[in-house]
Amino acid sequence: MTANVIEVNGLEHSYGSVKAVDNISFAVKEGEIFSFLGPNGAGKSTVINILTTLRKIQKGEAKVNGYDVERESKHVRQSIGIVFQMLCIDHEMTVCENLEYHGKIYSMSKKERKERIDELLKLIELEHKRDTLVKDLSGGMKRRLELARGLMTKPAVLFLDEPTIGFDIQTRMRMWEYLREIKREGTTIFLTTHYMEEADQLSDRISIIDHGKIIVTGTSEELKNKLGKDLIYLETDDNNTVAEILRTIGSVKTVTEDTKSLRVMIGEDVTHVLPQIIDKIRKAGIDITTINIKKPSMDDVFVHYTGHGLREGEPQEKVEGLEPMGEPMGVSA
Ligand SMILES: Nc1ncnc2c1ncn2[C@@H]1O[C@H](COP(=O)(O)OP(=O)(O)O)[C@@H](O)[C@H]1O
Ligand SMILES: [Mg+2]
Repeated sequence: MTANVIEVNGLEHSYGSVKAVDNISFAVKEGEIFSFLGPNGAGKSTVINILTTLRKIQKGEAKVNGYDVERESKHVRQSIGIVFQMLCIDHEMTVCENLEYHGKIYSMSKKERKERIDELLKLIELEHKRDTLVKDLSGGMKRRLELARGLMTKPAVLFLDEPTIGFDIQTRMRMWEYLREIKREGTTIFLTTHYMEEADQLSDRISIIDHGKIIVTGTSEELKNKLGKDLIYLETDDNNTVAEILRTIGSVKTVTEDTKSLRVMIGEDVTHVLPQIIDKIRKAGIDITTINIKKPSMDDVFVHYTGHGLREGEPQEKVEGLEPMGEPMGVSA
């Protein structure tokens, strides 16, 4: 059995009267990519800040790499890498100098630093920018450098808070490739995102989080299969009547009425059910204007479990008032 690298039990966190995290429990297995998918304000950053010891635990328990985040926070910090937007890299230093500096803080030897920097610059494809000042890098390159910095100490667990926020799709997909490569090296990855596709394409398992609670957890396949096998979008002359007819068919799991179309979730293969559906609608004397068939997507999963959509690309709130990180990892007095 694979060990759990992250274990969280009954975690709660409030800001004044706002309950940001409400009794959250989950576990992340060694070597997997695990995502928190949820809208702005869901509580994702609060959880990740607690797990990385940036924020004090109020209620519940959390372990990272076997260490208690409250009582053994120093060991936790030594086990992890962090890629957060707010942890800025020094813009007046070169790419290489930034990584050098980070390695020195964490007491890596000169040889270790050199080897790791070469390895990482290759991974994030910034070898040619080695001696470029950070301020002269593009936004995507800066984020890649932050990723490299988070990996400098070969952490057991890498934490990423919205790693591709604001990126175009090409840059985002490239980031996913790097993260898959990091996973292949054996690193466990915990990330938060509000991009459906990111959770879907990248994660081994996903927790959908909304209003501080985990609504459901599973692989992308599991979450989609729970909804049904196929989805039919139908437009007819009389959607109301058609909805009633469809609800009498056994293999129809749910029928939801949008402004124009009907969304019909089917529990079995659509090819068996579709003829029956068309036949019943025709017999009722109703014309079908459009039929579209697709497999349930992560968007459908999200709407199903949360009862609302997720507006992608909306600006994220800045999280302020973080407690200081304490002493850096591995520095002995
Ligand atoms: N430092 C803070 N002070 C007060 N409220 C906060 C603070 N940080 C977050 N919140 C509130 O807690 C809730 C969860 O926020 P957050 O964990 O940042 O969610 P997410 O990362 O999913 O957007 C939101 O309602 C947010 O406004
Ligand atoms: Mg956040």
